[in-house]
Amino acid sequence: MAAFIDQRPLPENLRQAAKYALFGPGKRMRPLLVMRACEAVGGPMNNALPPAAAIEMIHCFSLVHDDLPAMDDDDLRRGRPTLHKHTNEAMAILAGDLLMGLAFEIVAQQMEGAASVAVLRELALGTNNMIAGQVYDTLPDFPDAMPPIERLRTIHRNKTGALIRSSCRMGAMAGGADDAHLESLSRYGDAIGLMFQVMDDILDVTQSTEQLGKTAGKDVAQNKLTYPALIGLEASRAEVTRLHAEANAALESLGSPAEPLRELCDFMAVRIK
Ligand code: IPE
Ligand code: IPE
Ligand code: MG
Ligand code: MG
Ligand code: MG
Repeated sequence: MAAFIDQRPLPENLRQAAKYALFGPGKRMRPLLVMRACEAVGGPMNNALPPAAAIEMIHCFSLVHDDLPAMDDDDLRRGRPTLHKHTNEAMAILAGDLLMGLAFEIVAQQMEGAASVAVLRELALGTNNMIAGQVYDTLPDFPDAMPPIERLRTIHRNKTGALIRSSCRMGAMAGGADDAHLESLSRYGDAIGLMFQVMDDILDVTQSTEQLGKTAGKDVAQNKLTYPALIGLEASRAEVTRLHAEANAALESLGSPAEPLRELCDFMAVRIK
C-alpha cells in the first residue's frame, strides 16, 4: 500500500495524511478476512492482496470521517491523535476522500480478469452501505416506526457489517469461489459483521481508553443506540455467542480450508481491543 501511494502524483501533505490514517496500529481484521476467505475456497493468496488493501483503505477512510467533529468528535484513534487533530479538519475530510479513490484504483490496477469487475462492484456496495449505516447512526431522520432492536440491527449491519461482509465476499470472489461457497462466506460475513459491532459496543463500556486506543465510554456520552444500552451487557454477550455459533455453522460446508476463518471468528468473539 505504501508503494502504491508513493507512486501517485499527490500533494505531499495529503500523501502523508493518508499514510498516517492507513498505517496506524490497527488490527487489520478486514484484510485478514479477505485473505482467509480466498484461502478457504482454495484460491491463490496473491489474488486476495488488491481487495485486502482496498478494504483496509475504505475502513481507514471510514474511521477518519467517523472521528470528525461533525460525526463522533473523537481525539484518539489507534492510540494516537485522530487525523483531524494531527493535521486539520479539511485535510482529514480530503484524506478520507482520497483513500476511497485509492481503494478502487488499486483493485482496478492490480486485479485481472472477470473477478475484478465483481470485486469492484462488491467494494462499491460495501462502501455505500457503510455510509448509509453512518447516516442511520449519526443523523436523526431514521424511520421511527421501526422497533428499536430492528433499528439497532440495521445501523450495525450497515455501518460495520457491510465492509466485513464484503471482505469475505471479495476474498471468495478473488479465489474463484463457486456460488455455494460464496453464499456460505456471505452468511459467515453477515454473522461476524454484526458480532464485530456488538463487541465494539461492549468494549466501549467495559474497557479503558488506554486498552482500546480510542476514547472509552463515548457511546453513553453521546447517547448512541448500542447493544449494551438497549438490551444490557449480559444479553449483548449472549448475542455475541449466538452470532459466533451462526458464523461457524456457515463455514461447515467449506471443511478444513476454512479453519483459519474459524480461528479468526473465535478471536473476534473474545477480543478485548
Ligand atoms: C473500529 O474497527 C470501527 C468499527 C467498525 C467497529 P476496528 O476495531 O477494526 O479498528 P482497527 O482497524 O483495529 O483500528
Ligand atoms: C464505527 O462505529 C463505524 C464506522 C467507522 C463505519 P463506531 O463509531 O462505534 O466506531 P469507533 O468505536 O469510533 O471505532
Ligand atoms: Mg461512529
Ligand atoms: Mg466512533
Ligand atoms: Mg464504537
